[in-house]
Amino acid sequence: MTTTIITPIENQDLIAWSAKPKDKVLREGEVHVWLANLELEIYAMPKFLRDLSLTERTRAQRLQFDHDRRRFVIAKGLLRNLLGGYMGMKPNEIQFTMGPSGKPEIAQRLQTSHDPIQFNQAHSGHLGIYAFCRNRRVGVDIEEVRPFPDMDQIASLLFSTQEMAVFQSLSTKERQRAFFSTWTHKESFVKALGKGLTISLNHFEVSRIHANLAKIVQNHDQPAQPLNWFVRDISISSQFSAAVCVEGDGWKLRCSRW
Ligand SMILES: CC(C)(COP(=O)(O)OP(=O)(O)OC[C@H]1O[C@@H](n2cnc3c(N)ncnc32)[C@H](O)[C@@H]1OP(=O)(O)O)[C@@H](O)C(=O)NCCC(=O)NCCS
Repeated sequence: MTTTIITPIENQDLIAWSAKPKDKVLREGEVHVWLANLELEIYAMPKFLRDLSLTERTRAQRLQFDHDRRRFVIAKGLLRNLLGGYMGMKPNEIQFTMGPSGKPEIAQRLQTSHDPIQFNQAHSGHLGIYAFCRNRRVGVDIEEVRPFPDMDQIASLLFSTQEMAVFQSLSTKERQRAFFSTWTHKESFVKALGKGLTISLNHFEVSRIHANLAKIVQNHDQPAQPLNWFVRDISISSQFSAAVCVEGDGWKLRCSRW
């Protein structure tokens, strides 16, 4: 088992995924990203279901389709397992509160360290992705790269002028991947802020620093203001686009597969 640490302020392009590291220590300045194939964890579903809160079980029951219910239970079960590992608690002891726009956070009373754990999760298709760090806001997003109706029109509504110029300079073939890449970058930022769509997505842009690293720039004021937020591409496969956005610089990324 190997663990590769990548810092966003160095120009390192490739992410090396490590298999389920035993070390469950999350240090200040580290960002841990976990990727899981939710379909492979089906055997653990009864245990995961027992770990969920009543609210989570009720949400699961309301889902119409079996596969959505299964993926929801597994995704929440894994989140509780991962947080339990970092916090030295049982998965069912973790309690969450909700930010004003619905971002789940760890209940304040469980945060014993001076460097409270922040996290975010996302899923697309059969994949779930999680990001954890201390003392910094974090957001993560994943999207399956797929044909998207009205892609150009949606891009013109959500992308900044600069992002749109880059998008339009690409061939039709390249655009699909670029669309989802920009989408995950932008969504990882609004998820880190916890604000979702209350933010105008074309009021900020994701400006590349290196091949897989970008900075958030607020562009609706002139001159544009670079913000102290960094976005890192998480390379998974040609079928998925993913990104993590973290507050501040100097953090190190560790990517692991569950
Ligand atoms: C909150 C929001 C970001 C969720 O997006 P989504 O694509 O439906 O779902 P994701 O898989 O990315 O993330 C879902 C998880 O995010 C978390 N979440 C929920 N509300 C959140 C918020 N306000 N902020 C951050 N995270 C949030 C939850 O853990 C949720 O998991 P759960 O539903 O299993 O509890 C969405 O409501 C939103 O505002 N999306 C903006 C989308 C957009 O226009 N993107 C285009 C970019 S160009």
